[in-house]
Amino acid sequence: MSAPNDAPPSPAVELLGNKEGADSLVFFGASGDLAFKKIFPALQALVRRGRIDFPIVGVGRSGWNLEKLIERARESVTASAAGLDPEAFAKLANLLRYVDGDYNELSTFQRLKTELGQARRPAHYLAIPPSMFAGVTENLKEASCSEGARVIVEKPFGRDLASARALNRTLHDVFPEESIFRIDHYLGKEAVQNILFFRFANSFLEPIWNRNYVENVQITLAEDFGIKGRGRMYEETGVIRDVMQNHLLQVVSYLAMEPPSSTYTEAIRDEQIKVLRNIRPFRTADIVRGQFRGYRDEKDVAANSDVPTYAAARFHIDSWRWQGVPFYMRAGKALRTTTTEIIVEFRAPPPVVFGPGSVERGNYIRFRLSPSVVIGLGAEAKLPGEGMRGRQTELKVVATSPQDDARRMGDYERLLGDALLGDATLFARQDFVEQAWTIIDPVLGCDNRLHPYEPGTWGPSEADDLVASIGGWNTTE
Ligand code: BG6
Repeated sequence: MSAPNDAPPSPAVELLGNKEGADSLVFFGASGDLAFKKIFPALQALVRRGRIDFPIVGVGRSGWNLEKLIERARESVTASAAGLDPEAFAKLANLLRYVDGDYNELSTFQRLKTELGQARRPAHYLAIPPSMFAGVTENLKEASCSEGARVIVEKPFGRDLASARALNRTLHDVFPEESIFRIDHYLGKEAVQNILFFRFANSFLEPIWNRNYVENVQITLAEDFGIKGRGRMYEETGVIRDVMQNHLLQVVSYLAMEPPSSTYTEAIRDEQIKVLRNIRPFRTADIVRGQFRGYRDEKDVAANSDVPTYAAARFHIDSWRWQGVPFYMRAGKALRTTTTEIIVEFRAPPPVVFGPGSVERGNYIRFRLSPSVVIGLGAEAKLPGEGMRGRQTELKVVATSPQDDARRMGDYERLLGDALLGDATLFARQDFVEQAWTIIDPVLGCDNRLHPYEPGTWGPSEADDLVASIGGWNTTE
């Protein structure tokens, strides 16, 4: 057995070469919702793993002090799935600092500078609305907090191509692209990274992962709950902006990309953007939009709102690999179940041996990303009896186990840890964000009909017409 010192460096560290990690973390929006739900639990987990041992400065506008911040952090981790870890939390509380003040006042940032002391490579996490980015980044610069620093931002990265470009300009005024980490929490999911791993760590898949063998690809992001009181935010976004432009197109890029030359950050992100450049911008005729009945009665939702809570789209990737293969994606709130799943259907074998109808469904690969994590291979086996008829079976490659659960990092733990290390592989690059808007933009102001649907169903039946030629939607419930 090798001595601990001989242990190979972790892939993330190896990949970063001599790029230095952050030596402090600042998070704006310390009294906000995101901090409560995601950031404090991720910080406790990172401290527990020994990944953070430097000052963490919360910045807020609520008139709090450090005691109040620590109290809020304790409530947050206690309410989180992992729960309070007394030892890790004590360490975290020791690292926490707090600065209170108006984000428009330079003096707030001068006090932040004082709190940062000797720190040379702070990571500034803007857990605040994008409308505040310009003022905050400008003040960071004025107060000499931006040099050597990186910035971490949350979606939405704009609400269309023009606003995304404006937002990027705002960030680039102060930070170079390599110092900007745009969080798409889907990329922090183990199951999403497994798409990439499963594709390129196995040799049996590559020969058939193309237009010659794949019949169609379907991606479903279904949620059985509504907008959970986020009416104001949802009225500004709707399902297409909320999850399709970002999470689902990231998933598509992993599914459809060419093999990257290595796990080097830009090697992967270059392949992702190439996929997007080959997707034709969506057309109104290939989109079905829906809204669940009752949405308009939600708080902060207009009585005549035409914001979609459901959308289904058909699209194509005009590449050598995927030309002619229809891709479908659908996403919605208040649907029958909660699941995110990808199904890649393969062409049926010629029915010459056992005759038409002898095969129940045919071969497919299923990536279930949540709530459970599964990679399934659909195969036919003979149904017992005299006839030569098939029965659908599924070989499960990855299933969630309790041991896996203990090892799995939360999305935010993974992403925040990577951003602090300086590894941008799992973050959205500017060109990806802009290309994603180029694809989506034509259907945003879309004036095609909004179909009402009953909560608890699979959305408007009109979406079935999109997939009529492939025999309907396929999702395991
Ligand atoms: C968020 C969207 O980005 O992703 C939410 O704003 C959505 O509306 C959520 O529910 C889905 O992600 P997850 O990880 O909760 O499945």
